[in-house]
Amino acid sequence: MAVARKFFVVAILVLIATFSNSVSADPDLLQDVCVADFNNAVKMNGFACLPSFTASNFFFAGLAKPGVTDNLLGVNVSAANVMQIPGLNTLGVSMARIDFAPSGLNPPHTHPRATEIIFVLYGQLDVAFITTDNVLVPMTVKQGEIFTFPKGLVHFQKNNGKVPAAAIAAFGSQNPGVQAIAASLFAATPPVADNVLAQAFQISDQEVDEIKAKLAPKWA
Ligand SMILES: *[C@@H]1O[C@H](CO)[C@@H](O)[C@H](O)[C@H]1NC(C)=O
Repeated sequence: MAVARKFFVVAILVLIATFSNSVSADPDLLQDVCVADFNNAVKMNGFACLPSFTASNFFFAGLAKPGVTDNLLGVNVSAANVMQIPGLNTLGVSMARIDFAPSGLNPPHTHPRATEIIFVLYGQLDVAFITTDNVLVPMTVKQGEIFTFPKGLVHFQKNNGKVPAAAIAAFGSQNPGVQAIAASLFAATPPVADNVLAQAFQISDQEVDEIKAKLAPKWA
């Protein structure tokens, strides 16, 4: 009877642990604030805390203005994560601003550590994510509307309009991370071997080299 009860308690604990992992993003915090101390030599999950803080550790004005979109893809992603706002350390959230020229593309990428939710400030975006079963989930999102990109899934945003567009993105991590598919494969340092990419994409070594040449210097 006692053994059965012990098993029951263990089963409940495992269930609780599993459930709380599945609903949380970054680890939960153990104090009110832990402003990142970037100069601390201690390596840990996140950053060590500064001994004291001010309001400015939680402030950032860097998303107020559009980023310059005069580049290869016609896009500019301005981050507002723990690197720009050290007060976000341990708080599990961050933001970004994405500006698009007409025809601008935020190319296929993933955020390994966060779900993303975007709010369109102006213009219109054709967006999509792709599930692990390779199902494309597309949507046209207009000014004032919201779309969600589940954690870790490949997604992109394209401005097919004739005027600029902009969106604010929110993330469930202080440091969502970004891995751009094309750049990670074709602009890695040192490079991914041509024969790997040629076989994976079923193209020639020469075509691989052409793509590599176009993506270097790295634009992401
Ligand atoms: C993004 O815009 C900022 C100015 O807001 C500029 O300094 C930066 O070079 C731009 N980045 C790209 C990739 O164009």
